[in-house]
Parts: sequence; structure tokens; C-alpha cells
Amino acid sequence: MTEKHALAVPAAVGVLGGGRMGAGIAHAFLLAGAKVTVVERDGQAAEAARERIERDLAKSLERGSVDGNLDEWAEKLTVSLDHADFADCELVVEAVPEVWDLKVSALQEVEGHLAGTAWLATNTSSLSVDGLAEQLARPERFCGLHFFNPVPASKLVEVVNSKHTGEELRQLSVQWVEGLGKTAVVVNDAPGFASSRLGVAIALEAIRMVEEGVASPADIDNAMVLGYKFPVGPLALTDIVGLDVRLGIAEYLASELGPRFEPPQLMRDMVARGELGRKTGKGFFAYDQ
Ligand SMILES: NC(=O)c1ccc[n+]([C@@H]2O[C@H](COP(=O)([O-])OP(=O)(O)OC[C@H]3O[C@@H](n4cnc5c(N)ncnc54)[C@H](O)[C@@H]3O)[C@@H](O)[C@H]2O)c1
Repeated sequence: MTEKHALAVPAAVGVLGGGRMGAGIAHAFLLAGAKVTVVERDGQAAEAARERIERDLAKSLERGSVDGNLDEWAEKLTVSLDHADFADCELVVEAVPEVWDLKVSALQEVEGHLAGTAWLATNTSSLSVDGLAEQLARPERFCGLHFFNPVPASKLVEVVNSKHTGEELRQLSVQWVEGLGKTAVVVNDAPGFASSRLGVAIALEAIRMVEEGVASPADIDNAMVLGYKFPVGPLALTDIVGLDVRLGIAEYLASELGPRFEPPQLMRDMVARGELGRKTGKGFFAYDQ
């Protein structure tokens, strides 16, 4: 079955940073019919971004989940090193690495190249959207659009409104997400938004249970998968995300929300031993490299 979405997204969309997430975001807006401009930091990264997006577009066609034509999409995709190419974009989504100073300077630079009527969004997974908004000249035109990895397969986008986000954008952002064929979860800015806060809370409790010898990782995961219909157990998911990544999020949430998010010693020890999950071949479970 093929699905086709009416153009319920801005006609011209910019993406700052064409890495894992930025490429997925560009892919999603291209499939929805938008013209997409990706701005990268250097030529090599720009080339990698284009390859990533084109590969994902080809895969979507192979799967038969979309109608479209690779040549037409390629014509609608610009990959550049120049922020001035964002000038005609109605919306720019920032997806540079999760580093506060980098995000602030990147967002300010992009904002300086946008028309006064354009919208700006961040794909941050943990930084304060209120705090980022306060660094901008037009905070009412800024929100979080938190896409999930891998973007083509994920049906969820968390729309994160800062206290400055204007009413028009609050409505438009949900329409855009629906236009991408995804579902919006609307969150008022808070540490960990809705998804990371709850996902990490469950994972931390599961890790404490392993630490206390309550049950094996496989049995804990099976309890959630078979008993509560989780598609993946909390420990297997921690292996997929990376223990180091989840440790960082837990430390941040503990600093913002209190000791209930304090990472268990077992998690710290596993990270120190390099048992980071799938990417190192060992976490709560073992993987073939
Ligand atoms: N990876 C995930 O699972 C995931 C999920 C949700 C949200 N996020 C968030 O998405 C953002 C990007 O993460 P990612 O995993 O795609 O990272 P990534 O490292 O794969 O991609 C970042 C890209 O930004 C580019 N870049 C760096 N500085 C730049 C600049 N000044 N101008 C333009 N481009 C620049 C890099 O060259 C790189 O291609 C982060 O905020 C992250 O927290 C990540």
C-alpha cells in the first residue's frame, strides 16, 4: 500500500546539520513534498549528508511505503555550506550536536538569515527550549521539534513549546507533524520532555533491579515485553541507545529533577568498563560485532 500526504508542511524547509537526525528530518520533509535546504559545516559533512538522505529516499521507495521519484526529490534537495541559502525557508530545523554553546551560536546565526516571518525549531533531545528561546531575537517563533531515531521509521515527534512560543506556532507545529505522517506529542518545556523522562525512569529502575539481583536482564525485559506489551525491553533499549548516552541523560535529569534520577552504580561501572551496549558488542546483553 502506498501513502501520499498533501502538502501540509511548509513549502521550503531548512535543516541545519545533516547528520543522523538532520538527514532523517530532511528525508521526512522531502517525502511530504517540501523543498529542503540542508546546511552543513564542511564539504565532507555536506557530501555525507546528501548520501545519507539519498540512500534513505531510495530505501523508502524500495519498501513501497511512499510514492515519488528520486530525480524529483534530488531536484528539491539543496545541500550547502552557506546559511544565506536559508533565506527563503519558511521553517528551519536545527540538528547540530547536543552542545549548548554550539546550539546557541548556530541558532542565532540561522535566525539572522531568516525572513521575519520564518519559524525556527530545534531538535534538541535534552537542552532547555525555554533557555534557547531566550537567546533569540524572536522567541515567539521558536519551538522544539524532537524527532526520534531513526526518523523514517519513527511515527513520533515531540513538539516542545517554550513559555515564549506563540499561539500560531503552537498550532502550526502540530499540523506540520501530521503533514509528515507522524503523531505529535505536545509538551511544555521540562527536563527530559515527556519521552526521555519516562523512558529513562523505567530503564533506571530496571538497572537497579539487576543490581539488586531481583531478576536477570532477560527476565526483566520479558516481564515488560510480554506482560506490558513493550515492543522492546528497557534493558535491550538501553543497549540500543547506548549506556553512555543514557548515563548522560540520567545525570542531567538528576541535576534538574532530583535524586530519583541518580544513575545506579552498576550503570556507571558498565560505562567505565566500556560496556556501552550494541555499539561495543556488550551491554546488558551480548551482540555479534
Ligand atoms: N541520535 C539520536 O538518537 C537523537 C535523537 C533525537 C534527537 N537527537 C538530537 O539531534 C541533534 C543532532 O544529533 P545527531 O545524532 O544527528 O548528531 P550527528 O553528530 O549525527 O549530526 C550532527 C551534524 O551536525 C553537523 N554540524 C556540526 N556543527 C555544525 C554547524 N555549526 N553548522 C552546520 N552543521 C553542523 C555535523 O557535521 C553533523 O553532520 C542533537 O541535538 C541530538 O541531541 C538525537
